Amino acid sequence: MDISKEEKELIKWAFIAAKKAYSPYSHFCVGAALLTAENGIYLGCNIENSSYGATNCAERTAIFKAVSDGIKSFKAIAVVGYLEGNESTDYAYPCGICRQVMSEFCEPDFKIIVAKTQDDYKVFTLSELLPQSFGADNIK
Ligand code: THU
Repeated sequence: MDISKEEKELIKWAFIAAKKAYSPYSHFCVGAALLTAENGIYLGCNIENSSYGATNCAERTAIFKAVSDGIKSFKAIAVVGYLEGNESTDYAYPCGICRQVMSEFCEPDFKIIVAKTQDDYKVFTLSELLPQSFGADNIK
């Protein structure tokens, strides 16, 4: 799938975001860069907690930062992840909870870019990564 220049730039920002990861337990650093409908960029990192379940993923950090600023319309997100002190060698796919949170605010054609490097990435739509999802329509 083709991505725009702005969307490709998100990968660079996701690597910058990952540097802020607070991951003293897993030592896995995740960075996300979220492109808004107005071409703004929100960054997020994972923020772990000694009570592991209280951890917040990078994708949700970026989305919640944007929503708390009143922005709820998005085009794409780039996600990167790697073990602290190591190169990024694998694609870091959004977890199920993050996919569900994306589905609250993003259209089915929202692009999810998972990247190993600036030039080695894959692109999916939200509907590809979260088909047949549960949403607001189900509780009307
Ligand atoms: N993590 C994310 O930030 N995003 C995901 O989609 C998957 C997992 C984080 C949570 C935790 O801090 C670390 O990766 C290991 O699970």
